[in-house]
Amino acid sequence: MKILILVAMYQEAKPLVNELSLKETEPFDDALPMRIFINHEKPDIVLVISGTDPKHNADYIGTQAAAVSAVMAIKKFNPDIILNIGTAGGFKDRGAQIGDVYLVTQAFYHDRRIPLPGYDAYGMGGYHCEMIPEIAGALNVKKGILSTGDSLDAQPCDLEIMAKHNAVVKDMEGASIVWVANLYKKPVILLKSVTDLVDYPEENYQDFLNNLHLASHNLKDQFLKILQLFTENKIVVNKTI
Ligand code: ADE
Repeated sequence: MKILILVAMYQEAKPLVNELSLKETEPFDDALPMRIFINHEKPDIVLVISGTDPKHNADYIGTQAAAVSAVMAIKKFNPDIILNIGTAGGFKDRGAQIGDVYLVTQAFYHDRRIPLPGYDAYGMGGYHCEMIPEIAGALNVKKGILSTGDSLDAQPCDLEIMAKHNAVVKDMEGASIVWVANLYKKPVILLKSVTDLVDYPEENYQDFLNNLHLASHNLKDQFLKILQLFTENKIVVNKTI
């Protein structure tokens, strides 16, 4: 059993890297910024982070690096299951609170508005995520719909689309990773922990930084429960898409 964990920022991955004693190994190639951490004990774990832009000293958050990371990692490691773990904005009015962890049921986009027949629905995504009953039952999480976009803020038109999709969490990678996983017919689970409240933006950016540590630790705790299920052979991975 090989588990691939895709994470955007090192800060989000750090509790997992430490807890699982993951060791950094060679990158995919000289051009790509992704960093790869592995532990080949059973189950075999590979964690890939998107890397850092040296020019701006900023992590490569967002859909472009996430999709490249997913393709490269799937081709190199051929995982049995993929987990995308990361922080998210949450909608308080739809039940989210700081520190909550969500198991994502479906992933939309809110910033791909293409008002042409067929392209409008294509742009919005709406990909289904794997709902393995053993995992859903064992975790202490909420379930909900994710919306992905390449901005940390949310403009009124984004908010309108997210309301239409009943999104409860908003991130910058999830839908692009589910899209790639679906192309390769790999089961994918998204776990997102809330750092800030999108519908109460006056608390937004500082909240993200203040709550990054809390959210990353909460993600690690939930991932360890999933790992225990795999270690005890309590999960049968059976892709149905
Ligand atoms: N990650 C954490 N907070 C976020 C937000 N408000 N939007 C997108 N991604 C996030």
